[in-house]
Amino acid sequence: MLELDLRRVPSLGPDVLICGTGIAALSAALVAAENASVMLVTKSSSQESNTFYAQGGIAAAVAPDDSPEAHLRDTLAVGCGLCDEAAVRKLVTEGPALVQKLIEWGTPFDRSKNDELHLTLEGGHGHRRILHANGDATGRAIEKSLHQRVHDHPNITLLENHFVIDLLHKDGVCYGLVALEIKSGRFLKIEAKATILATGGLGQIYRESTNPDVTTGDGMAMAFRAGATMEDMEFVQFHPTTLYVAGARRFLISEAVRGEGAHLLNTKGERFMARYDEREELAPRDVVSRAIVDEMQRTGATNVFLSLAHLDPKMVLERFPNIRQALKQYHLDLTKDRIPVRPACHYTMGGIRTDLEARTDVGRLLAAGEVAACGIHGANRLASNSLLDGLVMGTEAGKQALKLAQEPQPTFPDKKVTPILPREEIPIDVDDVRASLKSLDSRAAGIVRDGETMTNALQMLDFWQNYVYSEEFATVKGLELQNMLACAQLVIRSALKREESRGAHQRSDFPQTDDTRWKRHLDFNRRDFE
Ligand code: SIN
Repeated sequence: MLELDLRRVPSLGPDVLICGTGIAALSAALVAAENASVMLVTKSSSQESNTFYAQGGIAAAVAPDDSPEAHLRDTLAVGCGLCDEAAVRKLVTEGPALVQKLIEWGTPFDRSKNDELHLTLEGGHGHRRILHANGDATGRAIEKSLHQRVHDHPNITLLENHFVIDLLHKDGVCYGLVALEIKSGRFLKIEAKATILATGGLGQIYRESTNPDVTTGDGMAMAFRAGATMEDMEFVQFHPTTLYVAGARRFLISEAVRGEGAHLLNTKGERFMARYDEREELAPRDVVSRAIVDEMQRTGATNVFLSLAHLDPKMVLERFPNIRQALKQYHLDLTKDRIPVRPACHYTMGGIRTDLEARTDVGRLLAAGEVAACGIHGANRLASNSLLDGLVMGTEAGKQALKLAQEPQPTFPDKKVTPILPREEIPIDVDDVRASLKSLDSRAAGIVRDGETMTNALQMLDFWQNYVYSEEFATVKGLELQNMLACAQLVIRSALKREESRGAHQRSDFPQTDDTRWKRHLDFNRRDFE
């Protein structure tokens, strides 16, 4: 494998280095920048993140008749016994004040006629507590207000179009990273007193995903390579309702649509959720996704339908302008037509294990948001808790980074590194392997799993690894493929090990929940693969 001589590479040295530009990254940056120089690095443009596409909203107990305690109870119930109660308590108690800050910073959360915040309902919530903005464009509105502050901040620099190849680490300590400037092909070394990973999840390892193309598990894979412990990687959430139109992107149809009363119908036009759960369309996501899969199998169909035809069209148009517009391209009218939907991969509950101060088990390396697993989501995430997680834990990561920034700058001791490096003329069709990986993962580690299919899939991934890891790719797609492969192996290995069904992890060969053996987290470290 090629070596990179770090002495020949231009270098930068902010106090705090943050990978990502979603809500966790931006929140961390604003806190750390109070007394430190901060650099945000992203492989694409600063807008491209899961946060930007979030529709439904951000959950917080802000209504006078709601409480953090009630929000805590709902989160724990949906997490199926694997949430860390202290982490959830931190989320629900610190969340409302931070949401208030978002309002002060200009996030235009929607209000009702009497100027009170308009709160909606989603699956698993016992109370209307979801704040939303511009109807169904909440993530975009939050990003806009955070970006404005980041952009105006004199201590924050934004480095776009830089692909992070690997972390610089030695003896369990992180010193920064090596990045590839995508346009010029030049390398860059960035050393920092604290490095925060806030790169989001791994949705792109599945064929059908609500996530943007950038979510290839880069942060998880590079933390794993640096020796960080990965936790609960088997818990991958599928969103029940993404648009199913041949040739169309798997566009999310927000759960808030069901929160406002939409019905799910099978291809015979029957409502079916009552047969699966008394909460009907507002059961937690894992329940609704499995019910849809059952119903599709029962009726021999490729999808089910969402119907809003019985709701007030004025309300529908006001609440969901973004979805309405997206559907118009396919000549579908949200107020009248049946909208074809099916589940797609949406969110990773597992990730880089952190404590409640966002610290990983690699020194000077912090992680926050979807890339991390700090115990908030357990085996299944409660709807609209992810933006709140990014806000709370991103803020926490910023505070910890600020502490590290007061210490002297450590210098990476090695002169050379052997990261996965680019090389031209690779004899592999990257697009083909990528498509095969997505299909394999969807088949083996989708909504319902079994040991035999996963064992076969893992053998295939291990075989691909032999030649994919040894290559030095010149393209971002190739580098991403290596990260996707590492994440797919982690998901399937963890899913194979957990011989029970719990939350988002359902096994047809182990259909029961087994608290005696499995009411615990599953951790994997690089050493387990050696
Ligand atoms: C949605 O709008 O349904 C997505 C919100 C979430 O993932 O929590």
